[in-house]
Amino acid sequence: MSNQAKSTFYSGLQQTLDQLREQGLYKPERVLASRQGAEVVSEDGRKLINMCANNYLGLSGQEWVAQASIDATEQYGYGLSSVRFICGTQTVHKQLEQAISTFLGTEDTILYAAAFDANGGVFEPLFDENDAIISDALNHASIIDGIRLCKAARFRYAHNDMADLEQQLQAAADKRHKIIVTDGVFSMDGTIAQLDKIVELAEKYGALVMIDECHASGFMGKTGRGTHEHHNVVGKIDIITGTLGKALGGAMGGFTSGRKEVIDMLRQKSRPYLFSNTLAPSIAGASLAVLERLSSSTELRDRLHENTAYFRKEIERIGFTIKPGTHPVVPVMLFEAPVAQKFAARMYELGVLLSGFFYPVVPMGQARVRVQLSAAHTREQLETVLKAFEQAGRELGLLKN
Ligand SMILES: Cc1ncc(COP(=O)(O)O)c(C=O)c1O
Repeated sequence: MSNQAKSTFYSGLQQTLDQLREQGLYKPERVLASRQGAEVVSEDGRKLINMCANNYLGLSGQEWVAQASIDATEQYGYGLSSVRFICGTQTVHKQLEQAISTFLGTEDTILYAAAFDANGGVFEPLFDENDAIISDALNHASIIDGIRLCKAARFRYAHNDMADLEQQLQAAADKRHKIIVTDGVFSMDGTIAQLDKIVELAEKYGALVMIDECHASGFMGKTGRGTHEHHNVVGKIDIITGTLGKALGGAMGGFTSGRKEVIDMLRQKSRPYLFSNTLAPSIAGASLAVLERLSSSTELRDRLHENTAYFRKEIERIGFTIKPGTHPVVPVMLFEAPVAQKFAARMYELGVLLSGFFYPVVPMGQARVRVQLSAAHTREQLETVLKAFEQAGRELGLLKN
C-alpha cells in the first residue's frame, strides 16, 4: 500500500467515526471498576444501581458462581489450547452438554464460544439451496449473519406477524425442507414470540422450528426452561440456540440443542465449532453449577418475575409509557432520541445506570430507555430507581400524570 493510500484509509475511518459522533450514534464504552451486579461502581468511583445488564438471575457477580469457576479451573486448568475435536474436550464439557439437554428437554447439545457462533454456524451445515429459511424480520444480527452464510432460499416475515409467516410458508412450499427461525424473546421490546402459533403453522406446512433463547433460558416458563415452556411447546422445537453469557451466569459461551442427528452434524461441519478454541473449563464448570441450582429451585426465576411485575406496575403508575408485556425487559418509551439521551444522562447523575436506544437501533420516533430487571435487585433498590425515574421525568416534563 502506498503512503498516500494508507493515509486515505486512516483518514476515511476517522471521518466516518466523526460522523457517527455528530449523529449521536457513536457508542462509548462504560467502564466499571466492580463486579457486575445490581449495584456497580463506575471507573470514577460512583455507585450506581444497574438497570441495563442481561444479568436476569443476578448470577454474574455471585460468589458461589465465581467459586465454581475457580474450582473448575483448579481441576481442569486454565484452557485447552485446542479445538474440541483434536484434544479440547474434557469431561466437564460433556457434562455441561448433557445438563443443558436435560434442562431444555432435548436430546443433545453442542457448545460454542458464544451464541453468536452458535447462530452463525447452525444453518450452513444443515440446509442448502434446496431448502428455505423463514426468519422473523427482527431476528438477532447473529441469525441474520448465519443465514447469509447458507445457500438456502431466504424468506422474511414481518415481525411477530403470523399471517405473514403463513404467506411465507406458502411461498416456500416447493422447497425440500423449511425452517422457521425466531428469537424466543426479542430484546428491544421484550416481545415473546408466539411459539404456540408458530408450532401450529410449522405442523400445518411441514416446517421445522428454531428459536434463539438468549433472553429466555433460565427464567421464562414455570421452571425457567425457556420460551418453549412458557408457551407449552416443550418437545416441539427442533433447534434451540442460547447463551451462557446472560442469565445462566454471564461469562460467555453459547450452545445449540436439539435432536442427536442435528447436533452430530454440527460437530462434523459447523465452522465456528471446528475452527475455534474450546470453551474455557472455568465457564463450563460454573455453568454446570448454575444449571444444577436452577434445576433444583425456581427461587431466582420467581424473584425476577416478582421484581418485573412490581416495576412494570409502578413505572406506569408514576406516569411513564411502557411497552406492555411480562418480560423483564421493560422499554420505557420517550419517543425522541435527544429526550432519551438527556433522560439516561440525568438518571446517571441520580445514580441509576440505564441505556438509551434510538434510531437506527429502534424505529424512528420510538426512542426509549430499556430497563432490565434482575433477581438481584432488592425492593429498596427498585424503589430508589423509581424515585429517580419520577424526579427525572418531572424535571423533563415527561410524566402523563
Ligand atoms: C437474541 C440474541 N442472540 C444472540 C446473541 C449473542 O449472544 P452471545 O453474547 O453469547 O454471543 C445475543 C446477545 O446479544 C442476543 O441478544
